[in-house]
Amino acid sequence: MSEPQRESSIARLVRSIGTLGFGVVVQAAIYPLRKWWGCRRFATKPPVAAPWTAPGAVREWRLEGSALTLSCERADVQLAALSPDIVRVRLRPDCQFPPPFSYALACEEADWPPCAVSVDETPAALVMRTPALHVEVSKADAAIRFLTPDGRALDADAAPMAWAGERVALARVLPADAHVYGFGEKALPLDKRGLRMELYNFDCNGYGPGDDPLYMSIPVYMLLHGGLACGVFFDNSYRAVADVGASDPDTLRLEADGGELRYYFFAGPAPADVLRQYTDLTGRMELPPLWTLGYHQNRWSYYPDAREFRQRRIPCDAIHLDIHYMDGYRCFTWHPERFPDPPGLVRHLHERGFKVVGMVDPGIKADRKYAVCRSGLERGVFCKYPDGRLFKGPVWPGLCYFPDFSNPDARAWWGDQYKALLDVGLDGFWNDMNEPAIFGAGPETMPDCVRFAWEGHGADFRQAHNVYGMLMVRGSCEGLRRLRPERRTLVISRSGWAGLQRYGSHWTGDNRSDWPTLANVIPMVLTLGLSGVGFTGPDTGGFSGSPSPELLVRWNQLSVFTPFFRNHTAVWTKDQEP
Ligand code: GLC
Repeated sequence: MSEPQRESSIARLVRSIGTLGFGVVVQAAIYPLRKWWGCRRFATKPPVAAPWTAPGAVREWRLEGSALTLSCERADVQLAALSPDIVRVRLRPDCQFPPPFSYALACEEADWPPCAVSVDETPAALVMRTPALHVEVSKADAAIRFLTPDGRALDADAAPMAWAGERVALARVLPADAHVYGFGEKALPLDKRGLRMELYNFDCNGYGPGDDPLYMSIPVYMLLHGGLACGVFFDNSYRAVADVGASDPDTLRLEADGGELRYYFFAGPAPADVLRQYTDLTGRMELPPLWTLGYHQNRWSYYPDAREFRQRRIPCDAIHLDIHYMDGYRCFTWHPERFPDPPGLVRHLHERGFKVVGMVDPGIKADRKYAVCRSGLERGVFCKYPDGRLFKGPVWPGLCYFPDFSNPDARAWWGDQYKALLDVGLDGFWNDMNEPAIFGAGPETMPDCVRFAWEGHGADFRQAHNVYGMLMVRGSCEGLRRLRPERRTLVISRSGWAGLQRYGSHWTGDNRSDWPTLANVIPMVLTLGLSGVGFTGPDTGGFSGSPSPELLVRWNQLSVFTPFFRNHTAVWTKDQEP
């Protein structure tokens, strides 16, 4: 993996003070201490190096409806056909199968029409059959093979599923001719074979090709070999590592830090079938507003002005407002001097044919004089430590509270805040910093011990981290659909997880202004599409650094073909308008 271009620490400190102000830089510097202090009594101990355990031999089996449950020596395994071409696999060392809960899924299990399943037993194996798929389980060790109904190999365990302490792992055979696609937002080649990737959403300012992880992880992949395609969605939101033949060229291994080992197998057999099966499960985007397909112009930050586009007859459908439109970076407010008349400004832009998109970050400034903060505190929507103290971390406005978007009441509260921006006339929204990013010595996030409602099931940040951004977008989108049902919504998100496409679209964050990053746009955008997030695109021209005139021209030529097409650049770079 290539090293990102680094500025010297002094240059970074000077730039940070210029951009953020001294107070926020000091808060960022002491954040590790604050985090340690907040969590000192709840810190999760480093995982004990427990040995890997596999389920062992199958002792008994039973078929109930379309679910085959296998009692093995050390755990139970369940295969459930949701449809003829989608089978869910679960491993439970406690032998209990409560209804699985996942934010990724677009519908309840009961919403799937019943699926005909039969099971045959041979001396060595059990074979579960649907009209589109055969799943063979070895009685000796519960290793699983997926086959087409005419017996062609689709996918197989390289070793039985296993767990070690809280960790869980899936190991699959990587045939010599196999190609592997997916895993969400990756600045890596299209074929992921030979790579080891982390699935942990990360604020990776100024990234370029090879840097990993990035802002959005999606644990789904497509395997293509022998003329057949199939896929796996590893339904686990904990930090995970996907090793696609990097350590062992014949094995694809997915290992997560915790949670249930649960995955969905997609039978293909063509790549488009795998994508259809994955999006049957996790949903598809709604039709976006037509103007979102046009050219968008942004920079961090406009305050304001867009005259030249019309004078020079450059097509442009939307102007984005970055954080400086806010009053001291307080979300859902307007800066009184820079934006004295927000409705007037939006009307002016509308009259000239521009839609207006406004940024919203998750951090709410901890300031009792700020109405949004007060109402969030009264409603009890912010994340807390296990002992009930509120969690605070520094972002643009200084110390902030963070809504627990896994609490339906917090999502409803959050959605209602958009009224203030809709009343001014904004057309679309941009959800940023939602990994969530917090300022520290380097990119930071919340401590693992922070608690989440998780729709009443309860979770800590280890489980909630990768889903946080998607749930923020869910709260935004549900609010907008409620407040403005007559219009389609646009919420562009930086972070996300499996199923983000149901609530929002995406852009690929703070990339670099250089030729290798431009070349990497193609595999990145295609990889996102193969991971269910079709509506995405890069910061055209690059965010970090300034492009040469030719690089900007070439970037525009490419971005015409990416679904989301927006020119954007950082606050400390040269002008980048066409
Ligand atoms: C983050 C975003 C970037 C934005 C900046 C200021 O770095 O990724 O697009 O301009 O914050 O809001």
